[in-house]
Amino acid sequence: MTSRLLTIDKRKRAPAPWWTRAVVYQVYARSFRDCDGDGIGDLRGVLRQVDYLAELGVDAVWLSPVYRSPQDDNGYDISDYQDIDPLFGTLGGLDQLIAALHERGIKLLMDLVVNHTSDEHPWFAESRSSADNPRRDWYWWRPARAGMEPGTPGAEPTNWGSLFSGPAWQYDTATGEYYLHLFSGKQPDLNWENPTVRRAIYAMMRWWLDRGVDGFRMDVINFISKDVRADGSLPDGPVSGLSGPYGDPGKGTINGPRVHEFLQEMHREVFAGRRDALLLVGETPGATVEDGLLFSDPRRGELDMVFTFEHVSLDQGPGGKFDHTPLDLRDLKATLGRWQAGLRDAGWNALYWDNHDQPRIVSRFGDDGAWRRESATMLATILHLHRGTPYVYQGEELGMTNAHFTSFDCYRDIESLRHVAQSRERGSLSDDQILAGLAAASRDNARTPVQWDASPNAGFTTGTPWIAVNPNYRLINAEAERADPASVFHYYRRLIALRHQDPVVQLGDFTMLLPEHPYVYAFTRRLDGTRLLVLGNFSGSDQTVGLAGHLDSGAELVIGNYPEPAQPLDGSVTVRPWEALVLRVTHPW
Ligand code: GLC
Repeated sequence: MTSRLLTIDKRKRAPAPWWTRAVVYQVYARSFRDCDGDGIGDLRGVLRQVDYLAELGVDAVWLSPVYRSPQDDNGYDISDYQDIDPLFGTLGGLDQLIAALHERGIKLLMDLVVNHTSDEHPWFAESRSSADNPRRDWYWWRPARAGMEPGTPGAEPTNWGSLFSGPAWQYDTATGEYYLHLFSGKQPDLNWENPTVRRAIYAMMRWWLDRGVDGFRMDVINFISKDVRADGSLPDGPVSGLSGPYGDPGKGTINGPRVHEFLQEMHREVFAGRRDALLLVGETPGATVEDGLLFSDPRRGELDMVFTFEHVSLDQGPGGKFDHTPLDLRDLKATLGRWQAGLRDAGWNALYWDNHDQPRIVSRFGDDGAWRRESATMLATILHLHRGTPYVYQGEELGMTNAHFTSFDCYRDIESLRHVAQSRERGSLSDDQILAGLAAASRDNARTPVQWDASPNAGFTTGTPWIAVNPNYRLINAEAERADPASVFHYYRRLIALRHQDPVVQLGDFTMLLPEHPYVYAFTRRLDGTRLLVLGNFSGSDQTVGLAGHLDSGAELVIGNYPEPAQPLDGSVTVRPWEALVLRVTHPW
């Protein structure tokens, strides 16, 4: 009976892409493992851990930028797209890593940062050198606002603020004009309107694919098209308490008028003919579900999936990223549920809690104290059971926590440091308030070194780590996690294996249940005659929920994070603190 059903299914369904069965692991090399003792992680450190990645079971690695870079934004400021920074190793070392991963059946995605380069990229050096340099138009150069003295406050071509605080325009005395940088002044934005720029980028991408990489994670890829008017001017943005004194650049720079055209062109020029085995994932801050569908609908030939930012913005208050407010679980369900529904028939979700820009999820939506193991595994269960491709950020599989830094001098991240400088300048927040904001939301929370073992510096380096190791490494580390069958690490292994094996996890429909429950996250996944019921308790107390009709007798446990899973009784179930439960109901029809 079962095998006949499977045969029928196979015939009616086109084979799903490999990444519907895959889990991707992000390596932020600087904090992963250091092999040369300079306190900064490197490619040899990644190579040393390939068996660890294979043991975890991941299918692909996304490698954050290791290209040549002045490291103003830890490598997201690239000065040579086709070489490796000596901090991290050599091109030969990268080839070795790709080969070692491929031997273990693991693909490698490069981070593609093409909204901007470093100001030390030769393209920008030429562009800046004179107003009539052939590369002048590769970046966004504009004169001062009409009637204003160039270089004086308020004379910037638009009122845009940079995402790293301060104005988004840098005055350059060499030619008396300004260049645009949505991020730091050392990250000038490339001008994608110029077809020569686009051709140079596509050629570079083909070069990487020819070298053997399996795809790209595309940094702020929905920022590449700016809303430029026919006369070359760019629109001011609205000024709010939050962005003041600067205007919000969003409307003029995010999901701009030509973004889909550019991505379709990229697809034709770079991926056509060799695309099937690849994975293309876009980072798209500010993208709505509707945008997400446009980017990821395969018929449009753009990307395979995008990272939404909506669910990681729900615990921000009116003051923005560093104004932390507690999450209301109902908002999380509404947001992720909307993305599941919106990409149900076409497109695909990239699923994530953590990355190098986000605080650690167990500290953020879980409890990194008494319930660390339970809440880390519950959060993992909820994420990995959604329809989409899950991403695991280094250390997440160990239940690593936020840094809990208590002084300014612990911080290294440019965004955090700029925020401190700006907040102090404005004088609106006390130092304690600023520190509390950083403790909750700083990107450095994710950037403390991976905790490998209980030896000094968590086994990350024999030197002085570039950022402090979290002192909890003596308890939380890979060696201890691997030795304990009940650990967060082994639970992630089981979740990854489950996605590999179970077609319902890969392709089943998603239905949200109990949308108004403040503590329990519940949904079903359904494929043919099989239904999975997924429950997660986002609280430290017992929760009893009624799920008549979904809790049929005979449900079989698929995975749970308590040794003795909760038992449904008469259509209801009591889940314990941070408990996760996945049940399978197979109907005989
Ligand atoms: C992306 C990266 C982030 C970086 C920014 C500028 O958001 O993930 O780390 O600072 O783009 O490149």
